[in-house]
Amino acid sequence: MEATIVSNRSHHYPVLLKEIISIISPQYGGTFIDCTFGQGGYTREILKSPNTKVIAIDRDIESKKIADQIKKDFQNRFVFKNIKFSQIKNMKLKNENIKGVLFDLGYSLNQMKDNKKGLSFSSEGQLNMKLGLNDFSAREVINKLTSDDLQKIFKYFGEEKEAKKIANKIIKERTKYEINTQNLVNIITSVKKRSNSKIHTSTKVFQAIRMFVNKEISELINGLINATQILKKDGVLAVVTFHSLEDKIVKYFFRSLSENKSISRYQPKIVQTEPILSMIERKPITPDKQELLENISSRSAKLRFVIKKKNFYNFNTDIFEKFKFLIEIENISNKL
Ligand SMILES: C[S@@+](CC[C@H](N)C(=O)[O-])C[C@H]1O[C@@H](n2cnc3c(N)ncnc32)[C@H](O)[C@@H]1O
Repeated sequence: MEATIVSNRSHHYPVLLKEIISIISPQYGGTFIDCTFGQGGYTREILKSPNTKVIAIDRDIESKKIADQIKKDFQNRFVFKNIKFSQIKNMKLKNENIKGVLFDLGYSLNQMKDNKKGLSFSSEGQLNMKLGLNDFSAREVINKLTSDDLQKIFKYFGEEKEAKKIANKIIKERTKYEINTQNLVNIITSVKKRSNSKIHTSTKVFQAIRMFVNKEISELINGLINATQILKKDGVLAVVTFHSLEDKIVKYFFRSLSENKSISRYQPKIVQTEPILSMIERKPITPDKQELLENISSRSAKLRFVIKKKNFYNFNTDIFEKFKFLIEIENISNKL
């Protein structure tokens, strides 16, 4: 479980790039929304096709530097917006022929290497983990929330088996000093000293805190709903996920909107009879041998996609109800 595109090479490696391009077919033109612009790997490839336009989104203002370089070469075909992808439906898109909406979830190698962001176990200094446009940081989460709340975050967002012990140790230690990134790594390591897992002992807890700080569950759900609304008929919605929780949400959303729903007394809230999406591949696409050789960190990537069948804007979904328990954990942040 590794929610990142961290590469074993020193340069940026856009995950599943050729698969994404073959699915969205930019050679036929149209407007594409790259919801996770990052270092522009997907955007640059799309812009190679002459009749395309890209609207790029990233919550991290740092990615504007890369966007500014691209803008120099593609004045009329490229726009960058520093917003969260949960907000894409607020953009003025009336006259755009949206042919594709892309999500490559997680964070980039550049963000991981940025010591101030505190995403890496070796970061020095205060806890942070904000990707951009956040309301609070990991520093407040770890130093303010109760043991019960921390446990829930570690258990449900990180699937961490030692959640209770780690949370209790944090509470004990923080009476003596304010916990920073290295203190947190030490606390987790001391609790999990007998772990013989292949992943770093702190991976799961770090993932859980990052998801909580960046409200990644509601971001993803709202992003999927908005993307489905703004896509034109025959447009493609493609999502690359890096861990099982993300994939579960995407899989449920795609399946539930691509199956015929009968009006059932057991599902009274879903009255849609016509499926809005079409799912061609039910199994996710994963990196091929060559990509795994070049970028071992792509091993947890899964690409799923759907095609919009109708020009509907409004549709019903029970996705918030289905993942209510995760949203409730996210809402623990109201206490901060
Ligand atoms: C894995 S990187 C994307 C890399 C990109 N595909 C490329 O080839 O350069 C994920 C990016 O999504 C951004 N991001 C994550 N969550 C976001 C959200 N809710 N709204 C907007 N951007 C987000 C991160 O800041 C990061 O830059």
